[in-house]
Amino acid sequence: MAKRRRIYEGKTKDLFEGPEPGTIVQHFRDDATAFNNKKQGTITGKGVLNNRISEYLMLRLHDIGVPTHFIRRLNMREQLIREVEVIPIKIVIRNAVAGSMAERFGIDEGTPLPRSIVEYYWKNDEHNAPMVSEEHITAFGWAAPQDIDDMLALSLRINDYLSGLFFGARIKLVDFKIEFGRNYDENGDMRVIVADEISPDTCRLWDSETGEKLDKDRFRRDLGGVAEAYQEVARRLGVLPTSGPGDVAETTTVQ
Ligand code: TMP
Ligand code: ASP
Repeated sequence: MAKRRRIYEGKTKDLFEGPEPGTIVQHFRDDATAFNNKKQGTITGKGVLNNRISEYLMLRLHDIGVPTHFIRRLNMREQLIREVEVIPIKIVIRNAVAGSMAERFGIDEGTPLPRSIVEYYWKNDEHNAPMVSEEHITAFGWAAPQDIDDMLALSLRINDYLSGLFFGARIKLVDFKIEFGRNYDENGDMRVIVADEISPDTCRLWDSETGEKLDKDRFRRDLGGVAEAYQEVARRLGVLPTSGPGDVAETTTVQ
């Protein structure tokens, strides 16, 4: 096979040129980072698990009419995605206080919020991914007011849907981060679609009975059992029918 051209090397994923124009191959590595790249490590098998989990969640979003970049999974670590124009904003949706919100406001982790809170962060590690407002986003030209409206509406819908989906797996969706990109349909009309990944790297997931952390906080806080926690999430979602990522039989999912 001819050597593929790598377009981008991210903190945990690589992007390669796809087989057709407008497509990209997204490759999930086992690398882990936290605190805007200040902490780095490796979680064996994470790439395989996140590829599976993100595939599953993106397909479920597609089922309810939320547009995403996901086309199909190619192999254990790779998926074919639609090329998008990156919107350099990370949207965080919170259902309970945790992480940076607990620190910023001095509120105990796990305190429920009276309603979901949405925050925007600038996707820029050199500047420590600062929280920004809609004013910054439009003033700096990162997204138009209509894009922000669309992203906000989609984010709240995704939160409601994923909260229920995880609840069915005895998991509380405490908070998560989601990214969007611009994509042009056949008529040249622009729309915003979900990009990047949705996985235990980008969500806080707590066992709904015991509160046990089943996400990247195990890595951030050196709690151990990181790969096992990701595997547990995959197993509960039904995407890991056997005992581990090495046992996952190859299947093809077509959207
Ligand atoms: P935070 O508590 O660090 O602000 O993170 C809130 C949630 O968003 C948590 O589930 C982790 C996720 N997140 C990312 O995945 N990447 C990021 O860059 C940020 C800021 C948050
Ligand atoms: N932006 C951070 C990272 O490097 C967020 C986190 O702590 O997960 O992944």
